[in-house]
Amino acid sequence: MGLKTLFPLVLLALLSSGKPLNKCRNIPGDAGFPDANSWATLNKTVGGRLAPVVPFPRFCRNLPAGQCTDAQWTSGLFRSGVAGAMDMLNFEQGYDLTPPSLCFRNSTVCGQGNVPLYAVEAETVADVQAAVKFATANNLRLAIKSSGHDLLGRSTAPNSLLIHMAKFTDMVFTDSFVVGGEDMGSALTVGPGVHLQDVFKESKAHGKIAVGGSAATVSPAGGYLQGAGHSLISPLFGLGADNVLELQIVVANGELLKANSVENSDLFFALRGGGAGSWGVITSATFRTFPAFNATASVIQFAVSSNAAAGAIAGVHAKHIFALDAVRGGAYFFVIPSAELNTQTFWLRTVTANTTLEEGKALLQPFLDDALKVEGATLIVNEFEQDLINDALYAEDDEIGENLVMGSRLIPTTAYETEDAPAIVEKVYRELLNAGVQAIIGSHVAGGQVSANANISSAITPAWRTAKTHIIAATVWDDSASLSEINTSRHLFQSTQLAILEQLSGPNAGAYSNEADIYEADFQTTFFGPNYAKLTEIKARYDPDDLFIVTTGVGSERWDEFGMCRV
Ligand SMILES: Cc1cc2nc3c(=O)[nH]c(=O)nc-3n(C[C@H](O)[C@H](O)[C@H](O)COP(=O)(O)OP(=O)(O)OC[C@H]3O[C@@H](n4cnc5c(N)ncnc54)[C@H](O)[C@@H]3O)c2cc1C
Ligand SMILES: *[C@@H]1O[C@H](CO)[C@@H](O)[C@H](O)[C@H]1NC(C)=O
Ligand SMILES: *[C@@H]1O[C@H](CO)[C@@H](O)[C@H](O)[C@H]1NC(C)=O
Ligand SMILES: *[C@@H]1O[C@H](CO)[C@@H](O)[C@H](O)[C@H]1NC(C)=O
Ligand SMILES: *[C@@H]1O[C@H](CO)[C@@H](O)[C@H](O)[C@H]1NC(C)=O
Ligand SMILES: *[C@@H]1O[C@H](CO)[C@@H](O)[C@H](O)[C@H]1NC(C)=O
Ligand SMILES: *[C@@H]1O[C@H](CO)[C@@H](O)[C@H](O)[C@H]1NC(C)=O
Repeated sequence: MGLKTLFPLVLLALLSSGKPLNKCRNIPGDAGFPDANSWATLNKTVGGRLAPVVPFPRFCRNLPAGQCTDAQWTSGLFRSGVAGAMDMLNFEQGYDLTPPSLCFRNSTVCGQGNVPLYAVEAETVADVQAAVKFATANNLRLAIKSSGHDLLGRSTAPNSLLIHMAKFTDMVFTDSFVVGGEDMGSALTVGPGVHLQDVFKESKAHGKIAVGGSAATVSPAGGYLQGAGHSLISPLFGLGADNVLELQIVVANGELLKANSVENSDLFFALRGGGAGSWGVITSATFRTFPAFNATASVIQFAVSSNAAAGAIAGVHAKHIFALDAVRGGAYFFVIPSAELNTQTFWLRTVTANTTLEEGKALLQPFLDDALKVEGATLIVNEFEQDLINDALYAEDDEIGENLVMGSRLIPTTAYETEDAPAIVEKVYRELLNAGVQAIIGSHVAGGQVSANANISSAITPAWRTAKTHIIAATVWDDSASLSEINTSRHLFQSTQLAILEQLSGPNAGAYSNEADIYEADFQTTFFGPNYAKLTEIKARYDPDDLFIVTTGVGSERWDEFGMCRV
């Protein structure tokens, strides 16, 4: 095509978007990057709450003690308050920058890596609006973080301006939340700085419970509900996203919008399952609460002497997976190493609502009887207790602070219904372990009300509605690993683990976008199923210039892996 024929096309493109599209976001050194005066003006606008961001290891070295304690280093609570900290260290590292820019706990040189340049420690909606408008006006890469829990590193980005929402800690309970004139019943409104542990604790005082995962510091009004939000009580009440009644969100043009079933309902559709960080900055979320109840909570753990024994227990567990259905129970089932015992273990945590201790035990007995027969497996924990559900879900802190990546699949109920399902599960677990997986994290958090909610109009991928479990293969490494070893680890899910897991999930299974692999070949279908086209349209309406871009998020295919330049 010659210049002459190309010219009208270019003109048309300019006219239709109203302005030329910038190919890349501005970085320091670019003519368009804000000068010191501009930053100072933004700082004034946000009440002095603009701060330079330093990588977490440097933050630690700047403390009076000259270092973080081991307890601080591994604490989700501690890290969530620090702008430059991610829970998974690897996401702070700029492995893919040229040259790589790294900062380890004990390294003498410390690069900025993937850590943002500046953060607005937002306290008000006006702070958020100022930051959003500043990013647009100066063509900056924007990142949003509430807790920094993200398992795909989506809450940090190199050369970015970060909006840190940790100070939005308001919580309001009501007995009747009204949407479009309709009373939706009892509900809780929280800011994105509120952690799940706060929800469980405060709702206890109100005799209520809300759907939330068994994590201390995950933000229900941050990434959790935008991804889906699973919980041990999801089989009873549905996903976190299923229970959202209303959201307040600052969108790309700086406006604060209300999204619910009657106002901005397209945005409301996208925010429930359409992926974290792609829509705007959520400033509050309102979700249903339910009357609290007592539950039987159990922990059963087997030490296993071989990968074969671990596989065999997993197979036995699969055989009995439907045992909790009568009470819509939920469970976590992990193959996870025990540092103390220096061995691999099979760890099972269950929660069953409104059951007595005896009833709770009886539900697990057939599994236990079979598992005790597995050669090379030794029962080391077998505990049952009655807890108020709030206490069963409550966690004091999250122990994090390692290098960790994962890949996952939602396992359809049908995969467990065939006669050879236990044998397939056994084989898959054994093969994953033989291939060097460090942990296999299973969550029995679907079925029941998650399936019954299939008629809710939201962006939750239909794969959630037909799933029984969600299985993650996790890979970790030490800071001493070489860059080439790290690269191999980061690609392990695609190179070896996925093919193994697909023997169980089938070839076209979906995955949970919040607990997944950043290298998914077709993330659009795997994470969002048939909703991707609609999500693309909604994004164009609310974020026409792609201000909110995250790895594997809607629209990210138009950008490089850093969200820095259009491709
Ligand atoms: C220890 C641990 C336990 C977990 N347990 C569960 C579980 O039981 N169930 C479950 O479903 N998931 C669980 N997760 C996954 C969790 O849902 C995701 O990591 C989620 O993205 C965390 O959201 P966050 O806002 O707390 O994290 P962040 O890292 O702060 O943010 C995550 C994503 O959300 C975006 N985001 C954050 N705040 C906002 C905001 N205010 N507005 C718009 N976008 C925002 C970020 O840009 C990023 O893309 C767990 C994760 C960890 C590390
Ligand atoms: C913003 O202003 C505050 C208070 O005046 C100051 O402490 C802080 O260093 C400023 N931030 C930046 C990035 O200059
Ligand atoms: C870093 O140094 C501390 C204190 O000297 C030490 O306890 C710790 O093991 C070191 N950490 C790593 C990751 O090497
Ligand atoms: C839970 O059990 C305790 C002790 O039996 C009881 O006092 C309490 O009322 C129960 N709570 C609910 C919500 O059923
Ligand atoms: C628990 O039992 C109480 C009393 O029968 C009932 O009102 C409540 O709905 C039950 N809760 C669940 C989650 O089953
Ligand atoms: C979904 O179906 C259930 C029962 O079949 C019904 O109670 C509920 O109102 C429906 N929800 C929607 C959003 O249509
Ligand atoms: C990392 O591994 C992937 C997959 O094995 C490979 O395609 C890529 O070239 C590697 N990158 C580097 C920098 O070695």
